[in-house]
Amino acid sequence: MAEDASRGTAVVTGASSGIGAEYARRLAADGSAVVLVARRADRLARLAGELRERTGSAVEELVADLSRPDDLHRVAERVAAADVTLLVNNAGISGYGPFAETDAGLLAKVLAVNVMAPTLLTRAALPGMLARGRGAVVNVASLLAFAGSLPPDPLPQRAVYGGSKGYLVTFTRTLAAELAGTPLRVQALCPGLTATEFHLSTGAEPVAGDPGQVHADGGMPAADVVTASLAALRTGETVCVPGLADAAAVDLLAAAELGIRGAAGGPLAARYRPGR
Ligand SMILES: NC(=O)c1ccc[n+]([C@@H]2O[C@H](COP(=O)([O-])OP(=O)(O)OC[C@H]3O[C@@H](n4cnc5c(N)ncnc54)[C@H](OP(=O)(O)O)[C@@H]3O)[C@@H](O)[C@H]2O)c1
Repeated sequence: MAEDASRGTAVVTGASSGIGAEYARRLAADGSAVVLVARRADRLARLAGELRERTGSAVEELVADLSRPDDLHRVAERVAAADVTLLVNNAGISGYGPFAETDAGLLAKVLAVNVMAPTLLTRAALPGMLARGRGAVVNVASLLAFAGSLPPDPLPQRAVYGGSKGYLVTFTRTLAAELAGTPLRVQALCPGLTATEFHLSTGAEPVAGDPGQVHADGGMPAADVVTASLAALRTGETVCVPGLADAAAVDLLAAAELGIRGAAGGPLAARYRPGR
């Protein structure tokens, strides 16, 4: 079934660079039609030309700013169409910076692109996928979803970004539980540092300049991140961590959650009682 989901039509948001461009290359090479979504029309046109020439797959360019409700609505309409078998919610921005000093408009944009767009695009995709009994959704989160206990240094200052990626992980895992027993698959992809343009901008504006530029901090090649995601779609891993050698660590997360949820319905914990 996940093999099927890699054919049909794949809608990839944030396809103009980095991980999204790699998804588009791989899916088109595998025989999927692809719909490329991002703001930078010139980048989409260049990639679309490359894919048409190399793969012969059908390629659509859908120029949209996912932080704008009208644009998001247009993309949602495309995602809801009957040919769509895979939605990759990959577009994301960092908005990094000290929380109390970062422009509130930028933080709202992080939430719009990283949270609102994937949620509403998944909502647009699922009814048709369920009716057709076929489809998959990948939400590109981040290892920073699991970094709430760590101080910023040497990691970036990231309260809203980390929160947005934590949302995607919980949203996807919870939705996966809801969809158990259906043929649909959902995946939260959690890359670590990846060699893309991501750290060249906080995301307020697109990165200008040459396609293919990456930040100087190192990181996993975007192609390897996509290899992991597509392999995990085939095996049915809900949380895919490309660099994680032992997948059992994800099970430990579930075990820790179970321990905390043990409080549900219980009496007030002794340490909170007055007079202690
Ligand atoms: N690189 C890392 O170290 C890393 C690690 C973990 C997770 N991630 C996640 O991986 C995903 C892809 O990032 P990347 O590393 O490949 O970086 P990237 O090269 O900067 O790609 C980000 C993509 O998102 C698109 N985008 C940004 N704002 C948008 C908007 N308002 N509307 C539509 N598209 C928008 C960009 O296109 P336009 O600018 O043309 O719109 C671009 O195609 C993100 O969700 C990111 O959070 C990255």
